[in-house]
Amino acid sequence: MAARASPATSLSRWRMCGTAAVRVRLVCAVLCVMCVLCSGGVRAGLYSESDQVAILSPDNVDAVLFNSPSAALLEFYASWCGHCVAFSPVWKKLALDIKEWKLAVYLAAIDCADESNRAVCVRFGITGYPSLRFLPAFSSNDSTGEDLRGFSRDVAGLRHLIIDKLESHKHPGPPACPPLEKTSAREIDSYVENSRGQNLALVFEEDDSYVGREVILDLLQYENITVRRVLRSEEELVSRLSVTDFPSVYLYKTHTNFTRLPVLKEARAFYSYALQRLPGVVREGKPRPEVSDFIRNETEEQWRPFNKTRVYMSDLESALHYSLRVELASHLVISGEALIALRGYVSVLDKYFPGRPPVKNALKAVNDWLQKQKVTSINYSDFREALDTTSADSYLPKAVRWMGCQGSKQHYRGYPCAMWTLFHTLTVQALETESKDPQEVLQAMRRYVSSFFGCRPCAVHFKNMAQESMDNVNSLRAAVLWLWSRHNRVNARLAGELSEDPHFPKVQWPPPDLCPACHSLKPGGEHTWLQDEVLAFLRNYYSAQHLLHDFLSDDIAPPLTERRKAREAVPVQEQEAGGEVEEEEMVEEVDGAPQDEKSASEALPRKPSIVGLRLRQFREDIVDLDSFIVQHYKAKAPLKRQDTEDEQHVRRTKRDLAAQEVEGLALEMEAEPEPYGHSRSTRWMFVLSVGFSRLDVSLCVTLYLLSTLCIVAMCLYFRVKRRQRRTKVALP
Ligand SMILES: Cc1cc2nc3c(=O)[nH]c(=O)nc-3n(C[C@H](O)[C@H](O)[C@H](O)COP(=O)(O)OP(=O)(O)OC[C@H]3O[C@@H](n4cnc5c(N)ncnc54)[C@H](O)[C@@H]3O)c2cc1C
Ligand SMILES: *[C@@H]1O[C@H](CO)[C@@H](O)[C@H](O)[C@H]1NC(C)=O
Ligand SMILES: *[C@@H]1O[C@H](CO)[C@@H](O)[C@H](O)[C@H]1NC(C)=O
Ligand SMILES: *[C@@H]1O[C@H](CO)[C@@H](O)[C@H](O)[C@H]1NC(C)=O
Repeated sequence: MAARASPATSLSRWRMCGTAAVRVRLVCAVLCVMCVLCSGGVRAGLYSESDQVAILSPDNVDAVLFNSPSAALLEFYASWCGHCVAFSPVWKKLALDIKEWKLAVYLAAIDCADESNRAVCVRFGITGYPSLRFLPAFSSNDSTGEDLRGFSRDVAGLRHLIIDKLESHKHPGPPACPPLEKTSAREIDSYVENSRGQNLALVFEEDDSYVGREVILDLLQYENITVRRVLRSEEELVSRLSVTDFPSVYLYKTHTNFTRLPVLKEARAFYSYALQRLPGVVREGKPRPEVSDFIRNETEEQWRPFNKTRVYMSDLESALHYSLRVELASHLVISGEALIALRGYVSVLDKYFPGRPPVKNALKAVNDWLQKQKVTSINYSDFREALDTTSADSYLPKAVRWMGCQGSKQHYRGYPCAMWTLFHTLTVQALETESKDPQEVLQAMRRYVSSFFGCRPCAVHFKNMAQESMDNVNSLRAAVLWLWSRHNRVNARLAGELSEDPHFPKVQWPPPDLCPACHSLKPGGEHTWLQDEVLAFLRNYYSAQHLLHDFLSDDIAPPLTERRKAREAVPVQEQEAGGEVEEEEMVEEVDGAPQDEKSASEALPRKPSIVGLRLRQFREDIVDLDSFIVQHYKAKAPLKRQDTEDEQHVRRTKRDLAAQEVEGLALEMEAEPEPYGHSRSTRWMFVLSVGFSRLDVSLCVTLYLLSTLCIVAMCLYFRVKRRQRRTKVALP
């Protein structure tokens, strides 16, 4: 990340704000005050809550800093100081890098340019920025910490500094901090005797290496694993395990039973990743992942096994359904910013969503409709009507069925997972189709999240990230990578949080086992991403051709199958329906429709009688539809149905549907609060209008009119003929 200030100015400012003569400090202080006064005293600091940095203020400083069981590294900065601005990305990166160490040591920051913080900065005797202080654990509230002069300006250097400080920490150290010192053969032998099957990992390293201590701290929050470091000079252990590579890691059981930890590269990031994912190793305080998590009872949506390294169309379609029909539905009137957001979102969906043809047509139709609305505000109900105006070849399934986004519990994953997936797919599609505007998809996402995304804290975090750097994205490739790297930042922040599914821990993605080529090491042994490789990987992973179509919502089938039945039944219906048929088109949907069948038809006086007939027919036919739908799916090329399990699933879903009546249609939706009872009514309306598309109706009418015209024409013809014959007969 580049510093915003140019190097020259930041350097001169740094000198000025630095630790030079007292006179300079005075000037500096005066400048500070002037700056603060000029800006009205309100300054946005350089850090936000999502940076893993504790943001200090007079109100929290006592509670956060003093008598804390963890040590702290404090940065005192002034937000106007160019050098502080230049240093802030390093501080943020460090905070993410040592997030796992938090229980032993954490980072804090305070903006001394903020007038309200001045008392705190004065109390610590701060005169130049940025200043770092190390505050040991259990410091009393008159402590001002240790001033760290000439500290390193890169992440690795700072990390090593922190380790040095922890090692030289006076007694008592942070209780959560594991022993960092080297171990010996004797110690290991006595440990193994009492370890009761715990995992033990030994990091073999050179005497001056920090890797071992870094890995020890990275595993600090994990249970059932102990990491110790062994120096090359510890000859007994080195020869016992015949170690030749330094660094390298061994899993040690007994003095004859040990294995080398397989990793892509011999470096901290790969060791930590591999050790955190060993079987039996879990994050502290997280429920232990149980196989039984996936065994669902009758009332719950069944678990569908899926390939964790693939993207499923079903997630994408479900995300569309949920965002367009549920999330948007809580905005009765959409105007201003929200309307711009909606237009942008639907427009990129229309352009780039790599969907099945009916879905693409539906998106196109609703986008065309939106383009035609030249008004400043629209009603959600009108939008919904445009979206739900379905025909055989234009239809967005009305159900949620997570596949790759299934969580081990109902409250995990699902919609937010699918939203990420959707936008990654869209950025990749924009790149593949060589769109003109590199920011189009990102801006659409930014606006959608800001105006509609139901998780408001997420929206705030995302907005901050977007503000920081989204505007700098200047190519389609950069857009794909921007979203990837920001998603990883979110992953780093959320790792270990309550919202994390224990079966799907948040990792820096793609992990080494998924994309070995994406990872590399800098000369100093720091992990780095090879962005070209990452881009190539993403282009394949999220490509349209690579999307899996298993378990797609079969919701898209009923209109087709029903249509066939409708066609067979046309003569009967034609007589019954008569001129009323045209009305069908207008009654697409009625909100708040009652929930049982009888009152449904009673409450819809405008609904032509034909609808009641269709409803009855549909309900009788439900079970028969099973096999038909399965065959239909098999026959349909783009809807790959793979094995008998799928068939069974379709059957089961259909049976459920029959058994549970209409409620079975979108089981998962029940979990989400549905504003204004949309889903129920739409489900009803869905059943009512199944198979009765506009196309059918208009075909009917056209045929009817044509045949009438034909008959009239024939009548006229014969009448004229007869007259001619009469005249002919009369002539002679
Ligand atoms: C815009 C946005 C902001 C959010 N902000 C927050 C927040 O502030 N706090 C909060 O608690 N939750 C937030 N969430 C939700 C959170 O990010 C996860 O979506 C949710 O916890 C579900 O996680 P998951 O395990 O399904 O994986 P997700 O993070 O949802 O990822 C889904 C899938 O995308 C793939 N993937 C993972 N990382 C990457 C990557 N870097 N690049 C490309 N593909 C990747 C993986 O296959 C993964 O399974 C946000 C969601 C969104 C869409
Ligand atoms: C710890 O890990 C070992 C090795 O995988 C495993 O056998 C043991 O059951 C685990 N212990 C606990 C308490 O999970
Ligand atoms: C099935 O799961 C639901 C939802 O978790 C729960 O309320 C219900 O009690 C469970 N039923 C049985 C028989 O376990
Ligand atoms: C998942 O998909 C990947 C990539 O296509 C494939 O290599 C792997 O075999 C699949 N795994 C399973 C369990 O099907």
